[in-house]
Formats: sequence, C-alpha cells, structure tokens
Amino acid sequence: MQQQFAVFGNPIAHSKSPSIHQHFAQQFGLEIDYQKRLSTAEQFATDVMEFFSSGGLGCNVTVPFKEDAYAMCQTLTPPATRAKAVNTLFVNKEKQLCGHNTDGIGLVNDLLNHQLDIKARHLLVVGAGGATRGILGPIIEQQPASITLANRTYHKARNLAAEFDDLFAIHTSATEQLDVAHKPDLIINATSASLSAEVPISDISLLSKHTACYDLAYATEPTAFMQWAHNNGCDQTLDGRGMLIEQAAAAFFTWTRLQPDTAAINADFASR
Ligand code: ATR
Repeated sequence: MQQQFAVFGNPIAHSKSPSIHQHFAQQFGLEIDYQKRLSTAEQFATDVMEFFSSGGLGCNVTVPFKEDAYAMCQTLTPPATRAKAVNTLFVNKEKQLCGHNTDGIGLVNDLLNHQLDIKARHLLVVGAGGATRGILGPIIEQQPASITLANRTYHKARNLAAEFDDLFAIHTSATEQLDVAHKPDLIINATSASLSAEVPISDISLLSKHTACYDLAYATEPTAFMQWAHNNGCDQTLDGRGMLIEQAAAAFFTWTRLQPDTAAINADFASR
C-alpha cells in the first residue's frame, strides 16, 4: 500500500502541497498518496485522529487549523512550542501525536536560497499575528543584528516581542509612526494585508536599492507590497512561494528522514 499523507485546511482546493510532495517523493522513487482534506472547526480533531488511525503517516495543517493542531498534540517540537501553531503532524513510537512547525525554517532556507543570509543584518518584520509568531524563533536563531517588529495595532507587537524576550531584544513600533532600530536590510511582510491588495507600511525612506523585501504571501501576480517596494527602487522583491516549498521539504524530511532537493521545483514555480 502507498504511504498516506494529507493536508488539512479550509479552504483547501487551491493547495499546492500535494504536487510539491509528489515531486519530492519521485526524487526517491517513492509512491505516496497525498490528499487534500477539507475540514471544519468542529471536525478537525476527529478528522486528524481518523487519518492516523487509518494508517496515515503524516499530515500538514494549514489555515485556519494550525492553532487547533497545536492544542491537540501530546508532544511538540521547540519551533512548534514557540510558534504556538503546528503545520506538521506525525505519530511517534510511543503512539503520541506530535506537532512540529516548519514555517520559520522554510522562510530561513528560502532566504538562503536567494543569498539572503540574515546573520548580522537589520530586519524589519511587519505584522504581529500568527504568521509572525511562526517565523520569529528561526529568524532569531540566525543571529540578526536587530529586529524591529512593527504592527498596525501597536500593543500586539509589544506583546509578541515580549514572548521572545528570553531570546532576543526585539525593538517594537507602530506601523503608522514607524520607528526602526536600524535602517533595514530586509523587510518581511508577515501581515495579511496582501489578501486585500493593501500595503501595510508607507514609509519609503526605509527603502533603498539594496533593501530586500519579502512577502510571506504569494499570488499569481506580485503582491501589493512587492509592487510598492519595486516602484520605490528595491531590486530584490520576493514572495512566499519559495517558503512554501521549503516548509514542505522540512515536513517531508520530518516524516521520511529524506531531504528533498528543492532547486528544480523552485525553478519550476519561479517560471510560472
Ligand atoms: P496571520 O495568522 O496570517 O498572522 P492574524 O493573526 O489575523 O493572521 O494577523 C494578521 C496581521 O496582519 C496582524 O498583524 C494585522 O494587524 P492588526 O494586528 O493591526 O490587525 C495585520 N494586518 C492585516 N491587514 C492589514 C492591513 N491592511 N494593514 C496593516 N496590517 C494589516
């Protein structure tokens, strides 16, 4: 029987995870069955338990169930504990449901793929929701010189920064009166503003030719944030497609201990 994998979300029809994981499996001559599973808030925990009791080996979890997945796990990896969200589930030898979060390492690996080593660099992260909580731990591990966390609702930035106080002194700001610790080398848009074609910051004095701008979101066209950065002189604007592939690779490794090569699929996605 083929190894069974799945991704749970709502909506889920758009998910690229099945084709990405099939691509990885082919690299190792594995035949896998990777299904999209539409779930609901009421059914999610039951659906996951049924998936594993019927022989499922591992599943991904996407919006809006990452916090529900976190809440139902018996064991959590350190990135999942920090993120308070789980995007990768598996069952360990002790038959415990385990939760991991590969979003942050996915971002870091995609940045490295684009020669963006953030060690000793100045970062501005915009947004203070779940997406930001998911990436901060792995970002801090790379030892940037400074992180400014800006949010439309200031107290959320302050509260989120406080959760990482033991690891890093994150500078916080309201986005409206943006006050950065240092002029950023890299700006990460971790807000959901791109979903409504909005740009979450307006201060163009932050930008220069060499400022890299990364939007965790992606769409068929460059996001509003990427267009804003490009129109104001930034040479390097990236969206979250590479992060999607890298978080999938880290999940695939978690389940199979096989490290897929992401270069070919990255090139394929970049050309679309
Ligand atoms: P996610 O899980 O995607 O992070 P979330 O927890 O709802 O979603 O957080 C969304 C983030 O995007 C928040 O930081 C939100 O700012 P507020 O805390 O002020 O609500 C930010 N956001 C959403 N739309 C925005 C917009 N149009 N402009 C600026 N920030 C926006």
